[in-house]
Amino acid sequence: MNGSPKVAVAGAGAWGRNHVRTLHGLGALAGVVDVSAEACAWMRETYPEVPAWTSLAEACQGEPGLRGLVVATPAPTHTELTLEALGQGLGVLVEKPMTLVSGEARDLVERAEAGGSTLMVGHLLLYQPAIQELKRLLDGGVVGKVHRFHFERMQLGRVRSAENALWSLAPHDVAVLLHLAGEAPSTVEASGAAFLQPGIHDDVHLELTFPQGCSAHIHVGWYWPSKTRGIRVLGERGMIVYEEDGQTLTLHRKRFLGTHGPAGPACSDQGSSLVFQGEGEPLVVEDAHFLHCLTTGRTPLSDGRSGLDVIRVLERGDLSLRNLPTPPTRSRP
Ligand SMILES: NC(=O)c1ccc[n+]([C@@H]2O[C@H](COP(=O)([O-])OP(=O)(O)OC[C@H]3O[C@@H](n4cnc5c(N)ncnc54)[C@H](O)[C@@H]3O)[C@@H](O)[C@H]2O)c1
Repeated sequence: MNGSPKVAVAGAGAWGRNHVRTLHGLGALAGVVDVSAEACAWMRETYPEVPAWTSLAEACQGEPGLRGLVVATPAPTHTELTLEALGQGLGVLVEKPMTLVSGEARDLVERAEAGGSTLMVGHLLLYQPAIQELKRLLDGGVVGKVHRFHFERMQLGRVRSAENALWSLAPHDVAVLLHLAGEAPSTVEASGAAFLQPGIHDDVHLELTFPQGCSAHIHVGWYWPSKTRGIRVLGERGMIVYEEDGQTLTLHRKRFLGTHGPAGPACSDQGSSLVFQGEGEPLVVEDAHFLHCLTTGRTPLSDGRSGLDVIRVLERGDLSLRNLPTPPTRSRP
């Protein structure tokens, strides 16, 4: 990407290294900011020509033309680093979860808006062509009115200590659900189990209802025998299955008819077909979108406000998980 704005990555850990590779490939990587000697050593070895700094202040001094920062550090550090970057006049792409408290997410949105800076959240799934196609199919009425969304994101995965499986894994699914449903939920309830670390849930079920009548279920967990990631949409005239691994959409022309026999509603099954197969790397699309927004001032698809909406749902789910009272639905600030 010629003439691309220069962007640094804060946090060259397991996930941040993917941003490093992607932004380097896009010709936009200014350097890396990481407090760990091991991460800086990896950087010097892998990309000897790209600087590694230990603080954002150092990065801004070392690269005066810096335009943006990708924050890929552990979740509890997101707010402070993002505020610091916005204070330096940088645009920010902050990884999910944007923050662990909705008040902090709101502060970030307000700060970015006051300074006219780009604020984007790393809701990767929104950049998958298959998810965008699913949105087009649903908005086009292919399955009629949607009764229910069913999301699954389970595998034997990385167990985190700063956040539970809800905060670690569900941000992707909540972001996609809000995008597909097009409105904030009326109710959010959660249940789950914590068995590896006290008080940190390993397996979580989230149940949501929406003002226009549909409902949704999200199941996430890192203690699971196999990798299961996908969405099922149950509509009045058909169903769609999204499989994340193959980025496929399958349309099932199956439904229940309005005519009721003695055995209950009659079922119609007119078969299934693959209607979409995506390709490419969503992280390349996401990072290229961030660079485009930095250059043009366009509002990102996963902007700070949509990130705040996601955090509010997670926060309500977390309160429910802990059997604490949940606040009523809030409209955007
Ligand atoms: N979008 C996705 O699909 C996706 C996937 C995995 C992880 N993530 C998110 O990415 C973030 C990082 O996850 P990870 O698995 O790479 O974590 P990690 O622990 O592997 O790496 C974090 C890195 O940040 C560095 N760091 C910590 N505090 C710092 C600070 N104040 N300044 C600079 N560097 C600092 C650490 O030294 C480490 O190198 C998390 O928010 C996680 O939820 C997103």
